[in-house]
Amino acid sequence: MSAAPFHLAWFLQGSSIQAWGEQWSGNISEEWMSAEMFLDLARSIERACFDYLLIEDSIYIGQNWQNSRDMFLRNGMSVPRQEPSVIAALMAAATSRLGIVPTLSTFAYHPYLTARIVGTLDQVSGGRAGWNMVTGSSDYSGQNFGLDRLPEHDTRYEMAAEYIDVVTRLWDSWEPGAIVADRKTGVLIDPARVHTIDFKGEYYASRGPLNSGPCPQGRPVIAQAGGSAKGRETAARYADTVVAHPKGVQAMKDYRQDVRMRMRAAGRDPDSCKVLFMATPVLANTDEEAQARAAQRGVATTEEVHRRLAQMGWTTNIDFSGYDLDAPVGELTTNGHQSSLANFLKKAGGRTLREAILAYTSHGGSVDLVGTPETVAAQMDEAMQEVGGDGFLLVLPNVSRKTVTEVTDGLVPALQQRGLVRRAYAHKQFRDNLLEF
Ligand SMILES: Cc1cc2nc3c(=O)[nH]c(=O)nc-3n(C[C@H](O)[C@H](O)[C@H](O)COP(=O)(O)O)c2cc1C
Repeated sequence: MSAAPFHLAWFLQGSSIQAWGEQWSGNISEEWMSAEMFLDLARSIERACFDYLLIEDSIYIGQNWQNSRDMFLRNGMSVPRQEPSVIAALMAAATSRLGIVPTLSTFAYHPYLTARIVGTLDQVSGGRAGWNMVTGSSDYSGQNFGLDRLPEHDTRYEMAAEYIDVVTRLWDSWEPGAIVADRKTGVLIDPARVHTIDFKGEYYASRGPLNSGPCPQGRPVIAQAGGSAKGRETAARYADTVVAHPKGVQAMKDYRQDVRMRMRAAGRDPDSCKVLFMATPVLANTDEEAQARAAQRGVATTEEVHRRLAQMGWTTNIDFSGYDLDAPVGELTTNGHQSSLANFLKKAGGRTLREAILAYTSHGGSVDLVGTPETVAAQMDEAMQEVGGDGFLLVLPNVSRKTVTEVTDGLVPALQQRGLVRRAYAHKQFRDNLLEF
């Protein structure tokens, strides 16, 4: 018996110089500005009938290693990266069914601007826009917007709840049918069906109505990624899809059940939000070859260990450069991604820092997926049967046309043969496809 059909989405870690220095990445260091490789990615995953492409974002250059940007700049770690809403618009033009989800951080865009950008994207894409709602997690990013530091973790989520309220009210400021376009009377828009929102909250205020007009989906799709209790609470109240990275099948199951329970408590139908789990499949022609590839990630020079720790520092706001690589990890706290740090500490156990980062980074995603396309399809099937749904968010550390093809033309057909993912889109709009099963 197979799992019920599930959803696939793609996590693009910024429109950037991906796979720099990797094999098969073409002339990416010269061609990245045109975003052509990422538009090809969007076209390819649409051919494979993915639900959506989520464009991750952060708005600063890392400085979490020796209090310097050198490590990040020299190695092109999360830099350069382009404004996601611009890339999203290009992707919308390059596709016709795929959901497009740019990340817009609450501290960096006023809610009116987010409602307008995502609303416009929904219009030009024919109802395929989403918004990845993130609160940001680094003071460096806050400093690019004149803030000394970001608000505290839990306050950020309280602000986010109010922020989403403003955004959704603005989307609702146009009643359905407000554009009457009556040539006889000469009336384009019925003023009685367009409303101010006159919102004055604790953190945000906006008059409205939204001047960009109504959205084809009414409200575009909201994606959410916070894994802490506050993060899940926010997801349960507002999200149409949650992207998450708990480690292991049991943790995935618990996470999903927790979100569903919180949704019921908030008076929502749990099936109206799809929880997708991060996964990094390692694919090859044979299982042995794939296992050898995966094992390679657990072996690294000290220089590479430093790079991985700097990347970990980027998500947790911790500068690990002063820590002894060969001493146990010990206690750590963060005002950044709490769930990422919790996962890391769980993995660390009694390990040294070097061992812990190798163990943590050599197994990307929620569950290990290693083998031929058929083997990995079977592993995904088994995990989904156990977890109960709703699908996976695929992320590759080395996006290239070759690695994308391994997924779209190897893994996806193997999943389709098992009846696990769709072979054709049933609907034109994003949310309708997301709710199809
Ligand atoms: C799959 C996934 C994607 C994420 N994408 C982004 C992103 O694009 N930008 C960002 O600032 N944070 C991103 N985050 C971080 C989350 O918004 C959140 O800060 C993080 O999961 C920690 O949440 P917590 O503090 O509630 O545990 C992502 C997290 C996950 C798991």
